[in-house]
Amino acid sequence: MSEVDTQMLKTDADGIAAAARVLRDGGLCAFATETVYGLGADARNGTAVAKIYAAKSRPQFNPLIVHVADQEMAQRYGVFSGNAARLAAAFWPGPLTLVVPLRPDAGLSDLVTAGLNSVGLRCPAAASAQELLRRFDGPVAAPSANPSGKISPTRAEHVQAGLGGKIGAILDGGACDVGVESTIVGFDPVPTLLRAGGIPSEAIEACLGGALADPKGGQITAPGQLNSHYAPNASVRLNVPSPAPGEIYIGFGPTKDADFNLSAAGDLIEAAANLFQILHQANETHAPIAIAPIPDFGLGAAINDRLKRAAAPRD
Ligand code: TXA
Ligand code: MG
Repeated sequence: MSEVDTQMLKTDADGIAAAARVLRDGGLCAFATETVYGLGADARNGTAVAKIYAAKSRPQFNPLIVHVADQEMAQRYGVFSGNAARLAAAFWPGPLTLVVPLRPDAGLSDLVTAGLNSVGLRCPAAASAQELLRRFDGPVAAPSANPSGKISPTRAEHVQAGLGGKIGAILDGGACDVGVESTIVGFDPVPTLLRAGGIPSEAIEACLGGALADPKGGQITAPGQLNSHYAPNASVRLNVPSPAPGEIYIGFGPTKDADFNLSAAGDLIEAAANLFQILHQANETHAPIAIAPIPDFGLGAAINDRLKRAAAPRD
């Protein structure tokens, strides 16, 4: 891909307008959401969506999440059952993606849905994402704004380092509050957890008044499907009570000898928000990485899912 000049945009009125213009012109604009930075393109424009795959060097045409400003806009693209509508009402705007039947007249590019008759819809809460979606007034396809298989970006600088020169613009909305990707729920036909993420599954089950099903065959089919994902350069060991010599040690809670700590207070929400930034920093040392045990409830489930992929043998 030839190098382009990547504009770094502020989230003032001029920056939002410029970002919307990039999308309208069929270009790529990265933008902050409350989870991670997304790499946005007009979801109705096949050529624009194809540029996402080229910029990320994504090997497969996985379906992409379509971002909308509100539930009303979501209904132009997807069909909401009672359970889907209940979850949207409870958790949108926020870090929840709902995979629902695609409306026949949705007008989305087939590349966005990967030819499926369903669509993943998400209404992000971050103020600058909301402003961009309202200004653009259309559906925005956006996977995380990192080269395929690499650590997800939670700051504009991460996007610049990974994709600078390959995309039209970056709307700098500062550090992401949540720090892990959205939770994905499908309805096939029962509510099913497709990816652990920013909304704990316990909260979703409380809203539905019943347990979420596991994906068919125990296979997580939606997200980060590639086993090795979020991969730092060096090796990663998990559940390490004390590090080996030469390892960079990432702690949680009152960890001794930690080089970085996801949350010294042992707070899983803080740990999720810090996760990718600390992985980026540890990665820059080029030393092998060891990570302390993280509890597996609440946002810990999403954190452990991402860490397992970071530690997986490389394809
Ligand atoms: O927090 C997030 O969700 C971030 C921000 C940018 O919004 N986005 C994100 O997108 O994580 P991405 O492309 O990295 O992950 C999207 C996942 C994919 O793995 C895909 O398989 C699943 O969502 N997905 C999207 N549409 C789907 C569909 N129709 N059926 C099944 N899975 C779907
Ligand atoms: Mg991703």
